[in-house]
Amino acid sequence: MAPPHPIPYQGSKRCLSGAILATVGGRRPRRLFEPFAGSAAITLAAAEARLAERFVVGDSLAPLMGIWREILAAPDRLADAYERLWRAGDYGAVRAGYNRDCDPAALLYLLARCAKSAPRWSRAGAFNQSPDRRRTGRRPERMRSELVAASALLGGRTELRAGDFEATIADAGPDDLVYLDPPWQGTTDGRDKRYHQGLARARLLAALAELQRRAVPFLLSYDGRRGVRSYGEPLPPSLGLLRMELSGGRSSQATLHGRAEVTIESLYVWSPLSAGSGERGG
Ligand SMILES: C[S@@+](CC[C@H](N)C(=O)[O-])C[C@H]1O[C@@H](n2cnc3c(N)ncnc32)[C@H](O)[C@@H]1O
Repeated sequence: MAPPHPIPYQGSKRCLSGAILATVGGRRPRRLFEPFAGSAAITLAAAEARLAERFVVGDSLAPLMGIWREILAAPDRLADAYERLWRAGDYGAVRAGYNRDCDPAALLYLLARCAKSAPRWSRAGAFNQSPDRRRTGRRPERMRSELVAASALLGGRTELRAGDFEATIADAGPDDLVYLDPPWQGTTDGRDKRYHQGLARARLLAALAELQRRAVPFLLSYDGRRGVRSYGEPLPPSLGLLRMELSGGRSSQATLHGRAEVTIESLYVWSPLSAGSGERGG
């Protein structure tokens, strides 16, 4: 059965979750950490497939973690609030309200209703993405069933941690698995500031070295390419990561422009048991 996916989020790894989790092999980690969770697509897929006993979900966007808190604690209350906002249909008022009080239900509505489910932020940190002019966003009944299903799947075995990824993974150990999906280099250094916060490459490299020092297995999505364009520099071979290439399917951007280009994403795999380097297609 397809796992629930309650938070519409550009960059969600829902379509790649099977390929990403296939790299775990027969090992069943004690806890799966997803410190750049967004819509937590990998956690939801791993829970559905019973790939780990417990889950730690974190993101530095506090109102997004507020959505996750409501999903676990009171999914029907969140569904009611979403339904009220959806039926009133006043995107501008919800966006202005969200920028004042950061209400999680307002953020859920904005994500479901904004162009490409892609949040965009001003320099001052205000949500400034426009509404999708052609679609009205996920209907309330469907949103309710996704929220309730995600709550049932993760409830009782998931810990939420709002904050920086390094704090979220500070207690991960050799029996755990960390899945990292940080903002790509292109969305940190370039003009396209997609997330409320980017991540400097040097900080990421230092965190990976620290995980290796503590013998914590990890998977990392970081760079990729579409057609002849590459996004981000591959990571240094000195880290000894296995780099695989996963096909993310046809890019909606390229399809819009009449080009049949497929997005290829890198997945870097590291475990203390199979430390070494190499490349594989996927
Ligand atoms: C590429 S998205 C993750 C998408 C996710 N894999 C999914 O399936 O939806 C990156 C996420 O990292 C978060 N983020 C950015 N910088 C962070 C940091 N320093 N620590 C924790 N989270 C961060 C952003 O808010 C965003 O939700």
